[in-house]
Amino acid sequence: MSILEQKIDPLKGSLLSFIKTNKGKTYERFDPINDYVAQIKANGAWSYSQALTGPIGPYAQLDGMHPDLVLDNFACTDYLGLAQHPEVHRAVTECVKDYGLHASASPTLTGNTSLGKSLETLLSDILGKDCALLYTTGWGANYGAIVGLANRDGADHFFVDAHAHNCLRTAVETVKGREYQQFRHNDCDDLETKLKKCRQWDAHNGIFIVIDSLYSMKSSAPDLPRILQLAEEFEAFVILDVAHDFGAVGNGLGAMETIDLENADRLIISGCFSKSLGTNGGFVAGSKAIHHQLMLYSPTYIFSTGIDPIPCAIAKRSLEIAFSPEGQYLRARLMANVEHAHQQFTDAGFRVLGNVKSAIVPVLMGDEKLARLVTRYLLENGLLVNRAEFPAVGRKESILRFTLMATHEKFQIDRAALLLKDAWGYAQSELVEEL
Ligand SMILES: Cc1ncc(COP(=O)(O)O)c(C=O)c1O
Repeated sequence: MSILEQKIDPLKGSLLSFIKTNKGKTYERFDPINDYVAQIKANGAWSYSQALTGPIGPYAQLDGMHPDLVLDNFACTDYLGLAQHPEVHRAVTECVKDYGLHASASPTLTGNTSLGKSLETLLSDILGKDCALLYTTGWGANYGAIVGLANRDGADHFFVDAHAHNCLRTAVETVKGREYQQFRHNDCDDLETKLKKCRQWDAHNGIFIVIDSLYSMKSSAPDLPRILQLAEEFEAFVILDVAHDFGAVGNGLGAMETIDLENADRLIISGCFSKSLGTNGGFVAGSKAIHHQLMLYSPTYIFSTGIDPIPCAIAKRSLEIAFSPEGQYLRARLMANVEHAHQQFTDAGFRVLGNVKSAIVPVLMGDEKLARLVTRYLLENGLLVNRAEFPAVGRKESILRFTLMATHEKFQIDRAALLLKDAWGYAQSELVEEL
């Protein structure tokens, strides 16, 4: 049976249909995905594109839902709650007055402001690097770092952690095509073997090791000291996406606290403001040697309008708070919530994944169908949480990805654990009934 004829029951099959099936020269090429979505919706298991009717925070209301229904929100990434901080809001008002609304040109030309420059300086100071460049999104920063730094003839070698984020892989695909080298997730022995082989037959060209500092599906962190040691040994650069732990974990530097950051010359840091810093935007920071290369060759920098003043103002004020005693307090609150969530979910009989504790608390569901039933039950009963399933995670390794904030209350976590237990019971009974 061709994939076009295949009927997918969203409560039965896995998300295999997300493997792109669009072929042909008419709009019928999009039928498989549209049919698939229609089926999921008909089964009440659609959990994407949920529009909030108010600001993000520990509670949320969704467009189209009963106006009295207030959900416990475990589905956003404002880890420190800074998007609602009054000082951050004040910084926006001042910014509009002083800088207006729009960057209106590429930052390589006139699209940066003195505000943006001061944010770059603050970032490079915090990270102990010579320079930082701003991007409009974290995705674009990561993509732009790789494509901008890579050799144009495709002569460089890339070793990408198997769980690295989409922006990193898409960039490497742009440079190398689909057949690029991956190493097993967090497996430094595998990485070492591959680097050794590579250097044996190519002693001259560049090598880039591409990793996240916190992998967002499993809350797992790399062995950064060992990876930097390998980078020294094999004369490689490390591109490190710090999206999920920068600002939120440890003293605010997350996995970077395990290394001598200032002297990590082979480290190029890319990150985003969209998790802990309350707004859109991203940055790449590193040695001054990369500054002009990125300014002139990074496509999402030179060929894209610069980040607007408002997100700069938000990121700058958020960064100042995140790296102040108040930031320490917020991280302590966040971590207390994280610890509590691990305890509550574990006590309720669930397996919580991860080799480090972070704002991401992934609870294993396994079977896709079961995970969808659980999510539907949770939403109907007042809990908003994101689900990840294949291809974002392995087949039958679906998770509920609880994202915690400093501003959550402990009783919300207790309520979530109880409800999750109920949801699991409901899903199991539905499955049994179907057999
Ligand atoms: C690890 C990681 N890197 C980069 C990004 C992209 O960042 P942004 O949403 O700021 O574009 C995301 C997702 O949002 C992410 O999870």
